Order: sequence, then structure tokens, then C-alpha cells
Amino acid sequence: MSTAAARERVAELRDLVEGHLHRYHVLDDPEISDAEYDALFDELVALEQANPSLATPDSPTRRVGAPPAAAFREVRHDTPMLSLDKCASVAELEAWEERCRRHLGEEGPDVRFTYFCEPKIDGVAVSLLYRDGTLERGATRGNGETGEDITANVRTIRAIPLRLKGDPPPELEVRGEVYMPIDGFLAFNEKARASGERPIVNPRNGAAGSLRQLDPAVTAARPLSMFCYSAGASPGWPARDQAAVMEAFKSFGLRVNPRSALQADLAGCARYVETLLNERDRLGYAIDGAVVKVNDFALRERLGQVTRKPRWAMAYKYPAEEASTVLEAVDFQVGRTGAITPVAKLRPVFVGGVTVSNATLHNMDEVERLDLRIGDTVHIHRAGDVIPQIMKVEKSKRPANAETVTMPVACPACGAPIQRPEGEVVARCGAGRQCAAQRKERLRHFASRLALDIEGLGDKLVDQLVAADLVTDPADLYALTKEQLEGLERMGSKSAENLLAALAASKHVTFARFIYALGIREVGETTAQAVAARYATLDALLRADAESLQEVDDVGPIVAANIVAFFADDANSTLARKLHEQVGIVWDAPAPAAATGSAAPLAGQTWVLTGALAAMPRQEAKQALVALGAKVAGAVSKNTTQVVAGPGAGAKRAQAKKLAVPIMDEAGLLALLARYDQGGDK
Ligand code: IVH
Repeated sequence: MSTAAARERVAELRDLVEGHLHRYHVLDDPEISDAEYDALFDELVALEQANPSLATPDSPTRRVGAPPAAAFREVRHDTPMLSLDKCASVAELEAWEERCRRHLGEEGPDVRFTYFCEPKIDGVAVSLLYRDGTLERGATRGNGETGEDITANVRTIRAIPLRLKGDPPPELEVRGEVYMPIDGFLAFNEKARASGERPIVNPRNGAAGSLRQLDPAVTAARPLSMFCYSAGASPGWPARDQAAVMEAFKSFGLRVNPRSALQADLAGCARYVETLLNERDRLGYAIDGAVVKVNDFALRERLGQVTRKPRWAMAYKYPAEEASTVLEAVDFQVGRTGAITPVAKLRPVFVGGVTVSNATLHNMDEVERLDLRIGDTVHIHRAGDVIPQIMKVEKSKRPANAETVTMPVACPACGAPIQRPEGEVVARCGAGRQCAAQRKERLRHFASRLALDIEGLGDKLVDQLVAADLVTDPADLYALTKEQLEGLERMGSKSAENLLAALAASKHVTFARFIYALGIREVGETTAQAVAARYATLDALLRADAESLQEVDDVGPIVAANIVAFFADDANSTLARKLHEQVGIVWDAPAPAAATGSAAPLAGQTWVLTGALAAMPRQEAKQALVALGAKVAGAVSKNTTQVVAGPGAGAKRAQAKKLAVPIMDEAGLLALLARYDQGGDK
């Protein structure tokens, strides 16, 4: 490729990559798959590597890569970063408005206050300086006057644009909150616990700790995002009010909170505060309240500030999501795969707006790490609608008779011995289907929302069905009769009919949901989707070996081994077949269908496409290969038959070379397709 052509393609790819990043991280509305995004990104990296003069610092490929720093430099905030006065009742909000009126003197009683309400994000306040639309500096709030230069770290956060869109002023300081989403927080802690590292106490500490890393590569690996809520020093920028700032921010590609809203009066604010509190558990990020801000900037000017707090804003605080209470007992629950999980029974305590009496303890390693005893005073944290967790033990309050927690030797449900294989953190009841608790959990999982979504098959009903010996595995559900159901407690004729209808409706699913519903260890919703996309039929999946499974995105050696082991167990493969072939659970065949027999000259081959193709879209090339019987994989392994490398191919071409996998260019592919009459050279 000539330098001019490369320059043009680099510019095009940057726009594409930035556009997709914006859709994904700012608008929460992705347009292409992760794999398609990766292909664009890889092509950009390869072109920049081949043409170093084209690699500019604002390229989306340059988010990570700054070397670790020895210390953070100081940053002085030209406009101090203020904090907020707080209240916890509507009466206090009213008193605040009254104070504002008095402060405005004679005119006060006649001023019409409109307010802008926003969630108060529980994260870390950050300042971003954009010069001529390019991110120049990121800083922490520090003490409000001086913070720390964390530019290299904020650059790694995908929700923060490196370049603004639209028509920003020449100098714009954007302020907002960097936070750790709750699912990212939980996933981080799950990994940390599995590898014996210290979990993060709450999402705020997670955000703060991640931004304070001297090595930006560490920050890059943390799940962080940002909501922008105000402009700092931005000379000459004519924003009139908060609502206008938010609209302008959106047009610059900055992420603003979609739950922010303009309110005509304080009564509107009171409704906002209540609605937001009701939504709190479903937001996906932690909030510690709502912020009510006077919308109009001229009014703000007249109201001014007292001791680093503006008079024009008020934080309405919600109940804390952390509390301390006493551990009264530890129960052991048996999960779907037999995993035994210790569950903390707590003296009931009010946390984040609900009364909590249970907390998960994950596994015995966690109990040991916390050095937890029954009778201890513990700190609990509750994020979103997730089960609360014990974060810390207050050792100084430990009573003399505090009891240590021990794992039972027998399954609390069926009495079978509990096994904990060497090197594993999880202890399990080995009785499998013989254990009623495991049977119940499997049925629950099978019927759950992300699996077959069988409405009306709740926990209590599962308990009854198993206790009455009417059901042992999911296939039995479909043999239930109206008479059998009517014989159960709290089950009238109408509910029985509804359940039978729900069971009938559940027979049409997607292959992904079916795979997920089987309950294979560590095969969650996303993995099930990736696996379903790869194997055309249940038979193909049942035959898959660990190596081919690992070519599926999202499947590593452990998950591949879990899948193989699952189907190697006759009872599981028989059940899967029975559900499909006898019960009649069906799904739409994925398109395009793979060819077979003589129409499949590439049967048994695995191809990988990488880099750009000029003559046909990659999706088309893929379909043509699949139609000839080949599998098209996302990654190169020693099982790959052939790699097609277009311009810009990078890591995959290198991997193919390393493994001595044959590589052809696009012309080779076209010639081959033409030979089999599948398009290409006409
Ligand atoms: S406005 C004077 N808006 O709360 C303006 N702050 O207690 C002060 N915060 O340091 C900031 N969400 O870290 C504002 N929507 C929001 C906020 C918010 C979270 C934090 C911010 C600030 C602290 C003040």
C-alpha cells in the first residue's frame, strides 16, 4: 500500500474505531460485534506499525502504552473543584430553597428556580482538559485546589474521548465522575478471589485505586467508565445553564448521565429523588444520592459559594450501601454443580434501603482470608440488587466465645461426602443427580429467565415437584399432566394450565439458550452464545473436542474441558438429546447452513480470515467458505487449515507463520472460490 493510501485508510479506520467506541462506551448502543470491532482495530494497529509516521498520540490505538510513572505530578485547578452540601429529606430541600431566596435579597421571593437533577455517582471526581478538541490532561480533584496528573490513566478509559466531536471551544475543562460499573466490580472481585488476591471493598475504592496506579497498563485492565457533569475553566464558552452544558457535552461525544433531568420546581425534584431511589438497584453503577442543581448560571453566579460548597447545589443523600452487623451463623448451600457455598446469616441490618440478613461468603478460602468467626462484627457492602458481601471483620469487637467456621464433611442436603480436590477452591457434593439439592438447582437454572424462561416455575414449585418425585430432570417437566399439577399445594386448575402453556411455549428457543440451560460449569450466557454460533447442530456440539472448542471466542482450556467432560457423562448427553429429539425443544437453524457430502470440498477444514479484503465483505467470504464445508474460526491454532491474510493482517498472520499454517492472500481465496463456483473470479 502506498503511503498516501495508508494515510487515507488510517484516517478512515480511526473514524470507524472512534465511532464504534463512542457507540459502545458512551451511548451504550453498539452497532457491530466485538469481533468486527477487533478486526478494524487490528487493521489500524498493523497500518500504524507499518507506517510509524502515521501513529499520532490521539489515535485510538494509543490509549495504553505510556510507561509506568515514578510518581504523579501536581496539577493546580484554575477553578477550584468544589464539594457539595448535603441533606436527606424533602423538608431540607425546601429549607435550602428558602435560604437561596433570602440570599437573593428583595427579589428572592419572586425568583423562579428551575433545577437540574442528576444521580450522584459514587466514584472519583476527575477533571479533563481538552485543547482544540484533543485530550491534553486528566487530573484528580485532590483537595480541590491541587490534584494529581493522571493523564496516562484516564486515556485508557474507553468512555473518555481522546478527541472531541462537533464544535468544542478551543479550551474546555470537563469535570465528571469516573466510576467502576457494578458488574465489572463483581467480575474483578471474582477473579481476585479465585487467584487469592485481595478483593476491592466497594466500587468507589475500585475506581480510586485504579486511577492511582502508576502503571497505566494496570488501569487499562480495570473496568472503568465516566459520566461528565460540569465544565470547569473554559474561557469564553457561552453556556447559559446546566441543561445546555449537558446537550453540548453530548454533541462533543462526552458521556452524560441519561437519567439527568430538568425540573420545573422543587416538587419535581422531590419526585425525581424518589424515582431515582427506586431505580437505584437497577442502574448498574453505585450512587450515593441525587444532586439537585440550580439550572440557570446567572442565578448560580449571584448565589455564590460558602466554604468550598456552592450555594446553588445540594446533594440529597440516600441510605449508605455499607453497614456493620453481627455474624450469627454460617449455613452451607448446595449449588447446581454441587458446589458448597458458605452463606453468612446476619443479624438483620438496614443497608442501601433494604433489610439484609444473608451475605455470600463465596468459598472457604474467603472465610479464611477474612479470618471470620461466628459472633464477629462484620462490615457488609451491598451493590445494586446483588447479594451483599462481607468485606471486613472488626477484630477488636470479637467476643471471647467466637466460633470458627468449619466446612461440613457431608452434604447438608443428601449426606454424601463433600470433596475438595487438591488445588481447587470449591468444595463439592459429589452425588450429582442423586442429590436432591443439585436436582432442584438444575431445574431452577433450566427454567430461569436467561435459559428456557419458563414462567410460573418458581422456587417453591420446583421444591414441591422434586419432593413429590414428579420430576428428576428437565425432560420430566414436559411429561407433567394437569392432574399431577393440580394435586400440588397452591396450584389451582388455572395455574396448572398456565404452567403447561408456559412449558409448551418454552420448546421454541435459541440454540444459545438451550446450551446455557444445560447448566455446564462456567458456561454463562455469553459463552453459550459464542458456542452456539460455532456449532450448527447439537450433534456437532456433542462431538466437539477440546481443541476445536477453544477456537471459539470466550472459550479457554478450562471451559473447553468443562464442556467436554459434561457431554462425556452419558446422562448429560442423553438428556440433551432427549430434550431435543423426544421432548421437541427446537431452535432455528443458524444461517448459513454448512454444506455436507460432495458439496463440501472443504469439510473438516478450519479457515481463518484476517486483515482487509477488497473484493468482498468478510462476512460474504466467510459464508462462501462455510457453504463449501469449512469452519471459519476467529483465532489461529495448530488445527487451522488455512489463513487468508489481507492487507493490515497483524497478530494472526504472525501466529500462522509461527505455527507453519499456510497463508494465502485474497487473490488466492478468490481463485479457490471461483474453482468451486462460489463467487470470486468470474
Ligand atoms: S457536582 C459544585 N454532580 O460528589 C459541584 N458532583 O460531594 C460539585 N459527584 O466531588 C460537583 N456525582 O465527586 C456533581 N452529578 C454530580 C455528581 C457529583 C457525583 C461527586 C463529585 C463531588 C462530590 C461532591
